[in-house]
Amino acid sequence: MNFAIIGCGYVADMYMQTLPGLDGITLLGAYDRAPERLAAFTAFHKIHAYPSMEAVLADERVQMVVNLTNPRSHYEVSLRALESGRHVYSEKPLAMTMEEADALAAAARARGLQLASAPCNHLSDVVQALKHELESGRLGKPLLAQAEMDDGMVSALDYSSWRSISGAPWPARDEFEVGCTMEHAGYQISPLVALFGPVRRVTAFSACLLPGKGAEIGVTDPSPDLSIGVLEFDGGVVARLTNSIIAPSDRSLRVVCEGGVATLSDVWEYHTPLRISPTGNGLKARVPRLLEKRLSRFMPKMLFGWRRRVRYGRQVPRTQGGHHMDFSRGIAQLAAQIEKGAPALVSSELALHVTEVTLALQSPASAGQAQVMRTGQDLPAGMAGA
Ligand SMILES: NC(=O)c1ccc[n+]([C@@H]2O[C@H](COP(=O)([O-])OP(=O)(O)OC[C@H]3O[C@@H](n4cnc5c(N)ncnc54)[C@H](O)[C@@H]3O)[C@@H](O)[C@H]2O)c1
Repeated sequence: MNFAIIGCGYVADMYMQTLPGLDGITLLGAYDRAPERLAAFTAFHKIHAYPSMEAVLADERVQMVVNLTNPRSHYEVSLRALESGRHVYSEKPLAMTMEEADALAAAARARGLQLASAPCNHLSDVVQALKHELESGRLGKPLLAQAEMDDGMVSALDYSSWRSISGAPWPARDEFEVGCTMEHAGYQISPLVALFGPVRRVTAFSACLLPGKGAEIGVTDPSPDLSIGVLEFDGGVVARLTNSIIAPSDRSLRVVCEGGVATLSDVWEYHTPLRISPTGNGLKARVPRLLEKRLSRFMPKMLFGWRRRVRYGRQVPRTQGGHHMDFSRGIAQLAAQIEKGAPALVSSELALHVTEVTLALQSPASAGQAQVMRTGQDLPAGMAGA
């Protein structure tokens, strides 16, 4: 399947790094409305630069548009692509409101086109391994998921110096104005829905704890930097999901079953190990805790202070240097669904549902009240009743 990229910013470089090795997709070129970004990106990757969006859509060889623009441009760009008869794979969120997301899904449906959205990390090796483990029934019935999507106190880091490999600055405005929930909650919601089926009810709290963040780059209306939600799935599984750019980096997912606990340490890492244990308290968690407890009263305070600084220091290059997320896997999956009839693991139903749950977390209808989700009826049920 031939595709073109719209939006040549920070994440587009990550897609380019993960394209090699994927079968069945061919990149024809890219376009960005910022001419200097378009030039830098296409020169760096040695690919064709389309001079305009019209030029992309006038190229009859382009079958799919991959929308890597900023979240607030997603609706407009995806709609244009769909209206011109192209399948669309969009970065997340699918759109900024449910009205827009519904309109995109309707536009795709009306033309018999496929529409899907990142994140695609439910396709990762480790989430698929977790799915098989739960399906095998060895751990018994899943009861509870604890999902973290904390990205550290980003506003205290030197984010203005972060650059992608072709030189795009990290889009701090989006992180602060669109908000960490809209930007990141999907990385936990997609795996949870793949494992447990659609979410029926969301009870959420959100707040902006650092309202002054990003003032130095002109942010005047920051979104919540913390959201905590309880997600109830059809089959009875309950998940607690926390998103923040306040708490120290933690992107773990823990699934507690009647007969054991499955833990994956980082949902952004496609090949992270899946840990299974009877209690979830593995040696890795227990040993440092035990040592600190036993030794702390004999050790000078300085030593523990030093250890903390070293750990914090190690986080910075991880944030800058990226992670092992296979961004392009979703494009290849969508192409395989269209051309080879592969099972629908990415779809507009999934994208709509992830968007609805995300919006419920970001802007709870009213504090403490559960919101009933209307999307996701057609998604597979998951193994909640295993
Ligand atoms: N930055 C990250 O680490 C990261 C990681 C994963 C996903 N994402 C997602 O990827 C998407 C893009 O983020 P980014 O970090 O690359 O942002 P970015 O600002 O670096 O890049 C977006 C690019 O899209 C271009 N653009 C915006 N509207 C356009 C339009 N109408 N037509 C043509 N070009 C347009 C901008 O000029 C910009 O170059 C977002 O949805 C974001 O949530 C970002």
